[in-house]
Amino acid sequence: MSVLPIVTYDDEVLRKEAKPVEENTPEIQQLIDNMFDTMYNSDGVGLAAPQIGELHRIFVADAGPLTEEEGGRKYGPLALINPKITFESEEKVDMEEGCLSIPGVNASVTRPEKIVVNYLDRDFNKQELEVDGWLARVIQHEADHLDGILFLDHLSMFKRKLLSSKLKKIDEGSVEIDYPIVPKKQKAK
Ligand code: NI
Repeated sequence: MSVLPIVTYDDEVLRKEAKPVEENTPEIQQLIDNMFDTMYNSDGVGLAAPQIGELHRIFVADAGPLTEEEGGRKYGPLALINPKITFESEEKVDMEEGCLSIPGVNASVTRPEKIVVNYLDRDFNKQELEVDGWLARVIQHEADHLDGILFLDHLSMFKRKLLSSKLKKIDEGSVEIDYPIVPKKQKAK
């Protein structure tokens, strides 16, 4: 098991659509182990495979620390393979989001309060989960990553503009981050 470097904001891999996982292989199991290690090492509550440069439809989540705060039902660590959100409540809520690929940036995002997600667990058993609160939020954020969507995309132009100087700093690689990230590529001048 190992901690892998996380790709940041302007990396094009974050904008690509990830591919469905076809079969349960030792490589996939290894990838999931590494994703948990990487998520816990960076104190994250969710991590999607594209964030470590792997375009597979997999994400891991552990909203435990957040649901404790919320006084809600507790879920252990979850690995979701080929997740599909099959229901979104009409009722929406604002919640503060951040992203390990966009360090130092937080913003309030509006999303459905309750969802149903269908997925394969890491043993490739079909699962269905109906959730609200923080876990519903984490799942929606991570599922977006599999389609090349970042939480910033849900913000108004105005809000994004307010964050632009922080985003520029990430682009320049001048943000202090206490977990490993993929080094910036040399940009053509
Ligand atoms: Ni994220």
